[in-house]
Amino acid sequence: MTNVELKDDEKRLLQGEMGEIQRLAMTWITEMASIAGAEELIDLDGTGDFHSPQTTMTLRYGFTLEQLEELVSTGAKFKIPTFANKSPFNEMSPVHGWEGCDMLCRYTGKDRFDDPKFHDYAMHEDFYRLFRKMGMMTSHSCANYLTVGFLPTIGQHCAWNESSAVPYCNAVLGARTNIDGSFATCFLGKAPYYDMHITENRYATVLVKSERLIQSDTEWDVFGFAVGEDAGVAVPCLTGTARPNTTQFSKLNAAMNTGGAVRMYHIPGSTPEAPSIEAAFNGIAPKRVITIGERELKATYEKLNYRAADKVDMVYLGCPHLNIVELMQIAGKLEGKRVKIPVWIMTTPWLYDVAKNLGYLKIFTDAGAKLMDGTCPAAMGGLPDYVKSFACDSAKQAYYITGCYADDPISVCYGNRDDCIDAALTGVWRGEWR
Ligand code: F3S
Repeated sequence: MTNVELKDDEKRLLQGEMGEIQRLAMTWITEMASIAGAEELIDLDGTGDFHSPQTTMTLRYGFTLEQLEELVSTGAKFKIPTFANKSPFNEMSPVHGWEGCDMLCRYTGKDRFDDPKFHDYAMHEDFYRLFRKMGMMTSHSCANYLTVGFLPTIGQHCAWNESSAVPYCNAVLGARTNIDGSFATCFLGKAPYYDMHITENRYATVLVKSERLIQSDTEWDVFGFAVGEDAGVAVPCLTGTARPNTTQFSKLNAAMNTGGAVRMYHIPGSTPEAPSIEAAFNGIAPKRVITIGERELKATYEKLNYRAADKVDMVYLGCPHLNIVELMQIAGKLEGKRVKIPVWIMTTPWLYDVAKNLGYLKIFTDAGAKLMDGTCPAAMGGLPDYVKSFACDSAKQAYYITGCYADDPISVCYGNRDDCIDAALTGVWRGEWR
């Protein structure tokens, strides 16, 4: 089955000497390692996150609630600090703000996200109650790194499970992860040792030269998507940019891992493993040079902004989930105003409470906008039925909300946050690439 070299404790886990769920978890990890071509497993010393019980492991290696109850009764704990990703797969209900969202669950085809019974069911509290006993912190976000206050440090091995977050772990924090956050990896504290866990794979191979100084949030978003499309699975070294802030890193990560599969990159002088271009490449010449100029940026913006009309039915802000500074900035723009069309403002459940304490929730509510958390339209599988034209400021959301999920094509107005807020106040799109 596998050519993975297992240590003694791993063999015992695989043979079921430590319990049935442990055996299932180790079987899953070794099969994953075998598929990935890993020759051994790494003991994790960082943090982990994973989605719902259903994506904990595959159905083939899943376990029942009763088995989990039994495991918890033995005092079993996650081996590493473990956080919950978005609320459960298949029914990605918002944790807060779901009331009145007027949205059908497209996965079941009959339930509504604003039905209290469906919301309670969709939160899978039966599983999460037990996961909490095992030490999980149920933060329910794709952007846990914005919230949890406990981040892995440079060189630590992690098991994260979110495409937009994985580059944050690797490139921004200098910790190491593949997309391998799961019940199995977090519970056993082990993961296949391949790709981003290995130093040699983390050096840049592609040099990206930007001809325009990348500095605004939207420039980072568009630039990230363009780089991702060209770089694919390579590790790029980005030059010709300003120094990104936290919002911009989030946007860049989400966009690069949507346009392509960039899970690690370097910005010399900004990311920790690249004090210089030479260090980013480990002294080896780039295999390829990508130049991104005005033409490429504008073409990418226009590709993402495939609107059919200027009328907007709904505005969405919050992909990845908004950080507290973004919430403060949006509150400043909406204070004392009234939106004309539905507006969803999405953050993490923990920041929802902070926003409430700081008075932003009241500002949003008074303006007629909706503060929500823990999910997004793409994760919910679409939009309310009345939405035929949608405005957002995220390349990732613009990409996922169209062909991937919606039954009918949606007209997407993509642009910067001010353009989206203008659309919220007027119902009309006036954004453009600037
Ligand atoms: Fe998060 Fe949804 Fe974007 S899960 S990264 S807000 S597509």
